[in-house]
Amino acid sequence: MFNSFSQLKTQEPLSKHCWYALGGPADYFIEAESVYDIPYLIIEAKEQGVPFLVLGSGSNTVFHDEGFRGLVIKTTACQDIEFAEDTNNEFTGEITVDTGVNTTQFVKEIMEKGFTGIESLYGLPGTIGGAVFGNAEAHGTSIGDFVEEVVLLDIHEDDPGKMIKHHVGPEYFEFSYRHSHLHETGETILRVTLKLEKATQENEAQRKKALEALNFRKEKQPAGRNNGSFFKNPEGDYAGRLIDEAGLKGHKIGGAYISEKHGNFFMNDGSATTADLIELKELAQTTVKEKCNINLEPEVRIIMPDGSLLQ
Ligand code: EPU
Repeated sequence: MFNSFSQLKTQEPLSKHCWYALGGPADYFIEAESVYDIPYLIIEAKEQGVPFLVLGSGSNTVFHDEGFRGLVIKTTACQDIEFAEDTNNEFTGEITVDTGVNTTQFVKEIMEKGFTGIESLYGLPGTIGGAVFGNAEAHGTSIGDFVEEVVLLDIHEDDPGKMIKHHVGPEYFEFSYRHSHLHETGETILRVTLKLEKATQENEAQRKKALEALNFRKEKQPAGRNNGSFFKNPEGDYAGRLIDEAGLKGHKIGGAYISEKHGNFFMNDGSATTADLIELKELAQTTVKEKCNINLEPEVRIIMPDGSLLQ
């Protein structure tokens, strides 16, 4: 299966491909060399009846200890960035970027080219595809506000060979806090075009904003093996504050623990299993529900061996 792809690996440990360094093996694993490989891989997976999952840098994904009984397609080798030019060879601010490009690297690049708008996303882990999928946000700046067009794969359940690429505008995504419509459709992002403003004399202000975002992370958020915020903030409150109030900071199950620095950061001390992390998640959800009557919804996606999401 998938033998026509020279990059095929079998029984690949998924702990090597997510920030938590957790999870068992994937039956099949391929690092796509170009976004144009991705449709062929998905068609083959569909035709073979094998579950598939498109993975960026694994900064918001955790795999089950038993791994994944399907094909993981990793996108981080897809690295094209194109700056559109007008007839005078001036950059227009329309920038088309492959799904696998690292968000922080991208912010750095647009700043160097003199564009502005998404500096607050500097320091975000993860890829542009992942950022658009989850409408990544920091300090009030959401990536969805800058999306002009996205090339998506449209999958036909009955006839996988019929899968087509289509171009959609930002309205298609119904962006909201840490959410896009793709959570419901499961479609795959291949490329994203963002529209950014040309920075005028504000270069210094831009750099300052990026640095402030980075310093905020260093000051308020723990380093080490974690996936950023574990839960979404519930409306009108903060998951970190609620977990703190529930007295759970520092709580440890196996090798998974809640950071003393920030209540919404769940850590792996190097010896955790995904089962430890799931138990800790459930403890936080139950305790916050009992004490504050609030349901915490994970931002991190925990993938079960059959590809379904643990709720
Ligand atoms: N707080 C506590 N105790 C804690 C942690 C936080 O009382 O242990 C309080 C803080 O004092 C503050 C409030 O909770 O009043 C919010 O905390 P913070 O300012 O750290 O921001 P956050 O809501 O936890 C959000 C995003 C972060 C993003 C920052 C800055 C979510 C779920 N998280 O964090 O995103 O970096 O704002 O914009 O929306 C991520 O998604 O991975 C992420 C890190």
